Amino acid sequence: MRPIFPALLVLLAPTLARAAPVTPPVASPPLGRDAPTLYAEWCASCHGEHLDGGKGPRLTDAARWHAFDDATLARVIRDGSRTGEMPAFGGALNAAEIEALVVFLRESAARRREAVPQDNQPLPTGPLRSEEHAFTVEWVAEGFDVPWSMAFLPDGRMLVTERGGRLRIVENGMLRPETIGGLPPVVVKDEAGLLSVAVDPDYARNGWIYLAYCDPGARPETAMTKIVRARLRDGELVDREAIFSIPRDQYPKGYALFGCRLVFDGDYLFFGIGVRGSEAAVTRDAQDLAKTTGKIHRVFRDGRVPPDNPFVHAPGAAGSIWALGVRNPQGLARNPRDGALWESEHGPRGGDELNRIERGQNYGWPFVTRGINYDGTPISDKTDAPGLVSPAVNWTPSIAPSELEFYTGDRFPRWKGNLFMGTLATQKLLRFVIDGGRVVHTEEIFHHLGRVRDIKTGPDGYLYVALELIGRPGRIVRLKPAE
Ligand code: HEC
Repeated sequence: MRPIFPALLVLLAPTLARAAPVTPPVASPPLGRDAPTLYAEWCASCHGEHLDGGKGPRLTDAARWHAFDDATLARVIRDGSRTGEMPAFGGALNAAEIEALVVFLRESAARRREAVPQDNQPLPTGPLRSEEHAFTVEWVAEGFDVPWSMAFLPDGRMLVTERGGRLRIVENGMLRPETIGGLPPVVVKDEAGLLSVAVDPDYARNGWIYLAYCDPGARPETAMTKIVRARLRDGELVDREAIFSIPRDQYPKGYALFGCRLVFDGDYLFFGIGVRGSEAAVTRDAQDLAKTTGKIHRVFRDGRVPPDNPFVHAPGAAGSIWALGVRNPQGLARNPRDGALWESEHGPRGGDELNRIERGQNYGWPFVTRGINYDGTPISDKTDAPGLVSPAVNWTPSIAPSELEFYTGDRFPRWKGNLFMGTLATQKLLRFVIDGGRVVHTEEIFHHLGRVRDIKTGPDGYLYVALELIGRPGRIVRLKPAE
């Protein structure tokens, strides 16, 4: 076995302002049997093979379902029902297996409820209503190979990354046919490709454009998130500088879980790096301060490590680490009101999260999670633990969250300061009202217009949304008030 992660030693080190008394459940897999098998073996006889009910009630009934939170469901399974008609399974199943069954039940119920979603719906022709504003969805540009990220230049032009490896420009509402040259070599495979683009807050003075992408490693089939900045001159990127990278011979294998969004805060640049795989060994790197994966990072805009970062004095730690224990950060945004950093991440199966990221804190992956492994087996028997920060919002089953954006425009006055989040699997645009560091209200703005990859407040005050369409080129739309 590996030593109990260096991260723990560091968490307990006196250099930390807040010493976190972490006693993680050290997972010695397998924690239990997989949920679909358990269901078939122990539950299907009464609740039906497809959860449609029999001797016991139907378990896909939306009206009933909402009455139960996860803890109550787990208790019903463990202790049985008060009437005694539902037997107690606390003897036959361990805590982790019961947690896994809860995830399985939620997933199955949601799948039934949503039937088969209608992906790639045509844009609505008339106005849509929402709680605060009526709006139209207006076509801006089309023909992108997975439009992953958008950024506006001060002259109103929009830069768009295509995950397929190209950087494009939308000018006066037109996608320019030529692509920007001078990009570094990008690995394009599975989730790997050209990811985020961001424009320096002082662009008018310094001309810097930042890119996050998947860089090929020294060994075969390895890759890693890398961040560079460069200047745009005559359609080419020039003066390229590395802002974040690790040695090429240390790149992990595979093409999944890279992160990576870019957020500026004064002189600082924040970004998140995913755990780079689902196997237990790499996923645990999220707790290892010597590894940059599974972390939120903070550097100066030129890539230097700020001397007051939380782990700069921890032996062997990567100094750029700002927070740890995240799985695959797909969204990152700074609340302009209070400066708080918010992150969205993909869980495994279930356990997608929205987190409020604080300096030096541990977000728990993979010690605590509300998700299960893709094969249905449990990951952890804990959903909370002392010293580990719980998510502000958890989604089980998975919705696959993507980018976050605090709306800062004037066109939708009652949305100002709200947090917007896109989702991939459920193709939704969500709006959150944040108060006192918590999500106090959630609204679905639209669904099934495509996989929502990015959201940005435009210089014109409209809300821009990048949509990946399944099986055909993606598009960018903007929301305009219909009042
Ligand atoms: C012997 C039959 C039987 C078996 C086996 C059984 N249940 Fe139940 N279950 C019931 C009955 C009956 C109820 C309704 C109890 C009541 O209302 O008092 C129930 C209620 C429930 C509820 C509450 C749902 C609701 O709408 O009230 C859940 C959740 C549940 N069962 C899950 C499970 C799971 C998971 C398993 C397998 C581990 C399982 N049950 C196995 C008979 C069974």
